[in-house]
Amino acid sequence: MLGTQESPLRVAIIGAGPSGFYAAGHLLKNKQHPELAVEVDLFDKLPTPFGLVRAGVAPDHPKIKSVTRVFEKTAADPRFRFFGGVELGKHVTREELLQHYHAVIYTFGTSTDRRLWIDGEELPGSGSATDFVAWYNGHPDAADLEFDLSAARAVVVGNGNVAIDVARMLLLPREELAGTDTADHAIDAIDAAGVTEVQILGRRGPAQAAFTNPELLELGEMTDTDVIVDPADLELDEHSLAALDQTGEATARKNVDILREYAARPTTGASKRIVLRFFVSPVRIEGDDKVERIVLERNELVADGGALRAKGTGEEEVLETGLVFRAVGYRGEPLAGIPFDERRALIRNEDGRVLDDAGSHLHGEYTAGWIKRGPSGVIGTNKKCAHDTVDGLLHDLTAKRMNAPKDPSRDGIDALLHERVTELVEWQGWQAIDAAEVAAGEPQGRPRVKLVTYDGLNEAARGAGTTA
Ligand SMILES: Cc1cc2nc3c(=O)[nH]c(=O)nc-3n(C[C@H](O)[C@H](O)[C@H](O)COP(=O)(O)OP(=O)(O)OC[C@H]3O[C@@H](n4cnc5c(N)ncnc54)[C@H](O)[C@@H]3O)c2cc1C
Ligand SMILES: NC(=O)c1ccc[n+]([C@@H]2O[C@H](COP(=O)([O-])OP(=O)(O)OC[C@H]3O[C@@H](n4cnc5c(N)ncnc54)[C@H](OP(=O)(O)O)[C@@H]3O)[C@@H](O)[C@H]2O)c1
Repeated sequence: MLGTQESPLRVAIIGAGPSGFYAAGHLLKNKQHPELAVEVDLFDKLPTPFGLVRAGVAPDHPKIKSVTRVFEKTAADPRFRFFGGVELGKHVTREELLQHYHAVIYTFGTSTDRRLWIDGEELPGSGSATDFVAWYNGHPDAADLEFDLSAARAVVVGNGNVAIDVARMLLLPREELAGTDTADHAIDAIDAAGVTEVQILGRRGPAQAAFTNPELLELGEMTDTDVIVDPADLELDEHSLAALDQTGEATARKNVDILREYAARPTTGASKRIVLRFFVSPVRIEGDDKVERIVLERNELVADGGALRAKGTGEEEVLETGLVFRAVGYRGEPLAGIPFDERRALIRNEDGRVLDDAGSHLHGEYTAGWIKRGPSGVIGTNKKCAHDTVDGLLHDLTAKRMNAPKDPSRDGIDALLHERVTELVEWQGWQAIDAAEVAAGEPQGRPRVKLVTYDGLNEAARGAGTTA
């Protein structure tokens, strides 16, 4: 019977971010199924694990990254294996995975960004927060990017926590970056940057901002930085006031309180400013051969069904700037023929079970994390999300609805990987990378100095003798 010592359940998880690790952890340590014999192989296209915990979370927030200790415990289980440097769709196909595993869980996140779709978005000086974040965090696909940070004023479009991260990173002084694991190339470039003002643009009002309270509060605590909010933006319309009164809106209420406090603060003459703007949408970005200005349209809020939508008033404003980042959300991409809901830009699924075109569950295929629900939620949100998916999977196991692979042996997938992947990084390989990075950081009082190229990462991994 499947799931017993004679025939262990073999599960592949694709994407070693939080959702992949939470799914692995719940399979390996499941109080409801203590008798389950299971083996988990966790794949990532990068030689490194942890997804956006390594390549997204801002480097000046090291405590948040300590969640990796939980993931390390999962990785220490002898029934767990990590295969870094293996990209689904490049090194291995979905069909091949289904030839070797009883179940596959897709947790590959949402790799790209949403666009503004306005004129001038392609001009040099206009870019995505997704790229900027990957660059300052040393993602090897972003190490070669270049950002001209010479402009005095930068504009960040969007009212989410990523917009706040980008604004903060643009203004942090070298002394504060120096103790972090910010990629070296980014520390140098940000230190040499001319940015003294960041305007963060919200298309709706303060009551609709997607910021969380600690992140918004942190802006007001930054060294030598004034936070500017126009008190007029805090005169809320009746719909916003009614929405704030609802239970479940505690974060929005507190955001408005924080913003009121910022609006009331006298400026201190600090050398840097963060200006939080509301009710404005960019309508075009202009400049001869690079960004020189952004044109904004004033919005009003209109009730649309149950929601409050931003509607342009036609009133325009020109803002001089040389640097625009859109931080209007990440976006999932279809991959390897896995059924994809184009409208929502995520894997077509019901409660984590992947659905075919007719809406039937494809036995043995599951999803969790941002590519299951869409790109929102903090690290912990993925824990319940991944656990729900695994609970569904184990229910299906009992109901005998698993995939029937041709060759579920460990040797089968090992042979395929060793044939296909020239730089296969297993957990010991990652531990060697980790040790090399931590050792390089130690003399500088930094948690680590990140290796930012595939060559550098693979070379460090080879030190452990576990690459192919
Ligand atoms: C800029 C930013 C900052 C954030 N900061 C915080 C924070 O401070 N605190 C907080 O709680 N949350 C934060 N979050 C949210 C948190 O990072 C996410 O909730 C979480 O990472 C989503 O987990 P995931 O596993 O679904 O996706 P991801 O973390 O994106 O992991 C997906 C993994 O899949 C891999 N992958 C992709 N394609 C393939 C493929 N074809 N084959 C194999 N592997 C593949 C990727 O390399 C990656 O490792 C932040 C998010 C962003 C974008
Ligand atoms: N420190 C942390 O805990 C931390 C740090 C970073 C990220 N995260 C989490 O990661 C998730 C993703 O964050 P995110 O900032 O990428 O997304 P987000 O929270 O969804 O915010 C996206 C923002 O972009 C705006 N937007 C969307 N389309 C727009 C357009 N065309 N023009 C103008 N504005 C537009 C949205 O406004 P509307 O509301 O009007 O659509 C919203 O304000 C969130 O759950 C976040 O909390 C957490």
